[in-house]
Amino acid sequence: MDEIHTRTIVEPFRIRSVEPIRFSTAAERAEALAAAGYNPFLLRAEQVLIDLLTDSGTGAMSSRQWAGMIASDESYAGASSFYRFEAAVRDITGFKHVIPTHQGRAAEHILFDTALKAGDVVPSNTHFDTTRANIEHCRADARDLVIPEGHEPQTIHPFKGNIDLDALRETIQSVGRERIPMVMITVTNNSGGGQPVSMANIRAASEIAHENGIPFIIDACRFAENSWFIKTREDGYADETPTAIAREMFSYADGCTMSAKKDGMANIGGFLALNGDDLAMNCRNLLILTEGFPTYGGMAGYDLEAIAQGLYEALDENYLRYRIRSIAYLADKITAQGVPIVQPPGGHALYLDARAMLPHIPDSQYPAWSLNNALYLAGGVRGVEIGSIMFGKHPDGSEQPAPLDLVRLAFPRRVYTQSHVDFVAEIILGINAERDQVVGHRIVWQAPILRHFTVRMEPASA
Ligand code: F0G
Repeated sequence: MDEIHTRTIVEPFRIRSVEPIRFSTAAERAEALAAAGYNPFLLRAEQVLIDLLTDSGTGAMSSRQWAGMIASDESYAGASSFYRFEAAVRDITGFKHVIPTHQGRAAEHILFDTALKAGDVVPSNTHFDTTRANIEHCRADARDLVIPEGHEPQTIHPFKGNIDLDALRETIQSVGRERIPMVMITVTNNSGGGQPVSMANIRAASEIAHENGIPFIIDACRFAENSWFIKTREDGYADETPTAIAREMFSYADGCTMSAKKDGMANIGGFLALNGDDLAMNCRNLLILTEGFPTYGGMAGYDLEAIAQGLYEALDENYLRYRIRSIAYLADKITAQGVPIVQPPGGHALYLDARAMLPHIPDSQYPAWSLNNALYLAGGVRGVEIGSIMFGKHPDGSEQPAPLDLVRLAFPRRVYTQSHVDFVAEIILGINAERDQVVGHRIVWQAPILRHFTVRMEPASA
């Protein structure tokens, strides 16, 4: 019998350990959400059926990762687990100094605290919220310079995460290179819709930075997913492996910050990797103060093992094909019925365009926040608002609507199967059919920074 060519992309794993998910009634969810101040961050996870809050630290580990964890070395200094971790990071990134941290934002904090001073400017395609907050904490300015298409949810562009190279040049010219301690690029561009950055754009941004003597740093959280998009969308890369593509991306940079909770396939962990000896030494000194000794940073030996293995699993072609396809599959199902999303779908998540879907809710009543709450009430699905609650409040206290008001449905790695995705599609389509019924929300209480985590809201109709 000849091989039968199938279109179905199967999950490239089988499941050997299962975890129950918890069903609830609509009445229970209404009560739970009210008790949580209409903030899904404040729900208990057991009140959620399908949790798409984040793909960060929520993935399922492989039997090989667990095996590495069991065999880890928990020595305080010089553990063999550290050397395995360091070798894996070096093999993939090529950077000389590998500094382990407990997660991505710790790497950001250490890098920025060491390299930035008040009044500096850090350009990027789009800074993630913790990255921005850590830069602003140093009283420096985080500048987002994504290409114009990155602000247009409906425009299809293969690399909507690209940085605007002209804007980057102009920024360097007007600010002055001495006030720009680094240029960054986030792959994939999470806050901009999980959109990839092309190799050509990374290379060109790196050249502009280096011509001006400025270091170029990659926020590498989703480097493997970005590599897959380069392989499948950029000319000249179809025959390259994701690993070779990742190595090339990193070759243009002087360092990276990494949350291993994403493409490290781990539940916790991260690192800062750098080529510069002096900068690395200063970062290590701060690391000892805030994270730990340089051969464990903020992690246990078993975390280092999980990441050393996970980084390679994230680059596996069968995994990446399934991963990117499972997001596109949901996008196909809901866009066929006219649900507006950021196009094309991202690598780790799908972004619902709440402003377009709920035109009856004004920005002052937070359409994306309201849509996310509707998803929970209708189906126990939890996403996250990436919009005016997350980004609308500025350090000077002023408020204006975010450029995009989105609900992000981020998929934990290797956790949900196709029927879970089918269920989520049904819930979204059900809400879309009755979208006039979705009510806006107003703020009852908010914290001065990163308010989305703790804000308390109420329905605007109440
Ligand atoms: N950079 C990007 C692009 C991120 O997406 C994140 C985290 C970080 C940095 C910080 O890493 O959480 O390990 O400290 N993003 C998570 C998310 C929280 O849900 O997208 P961390």
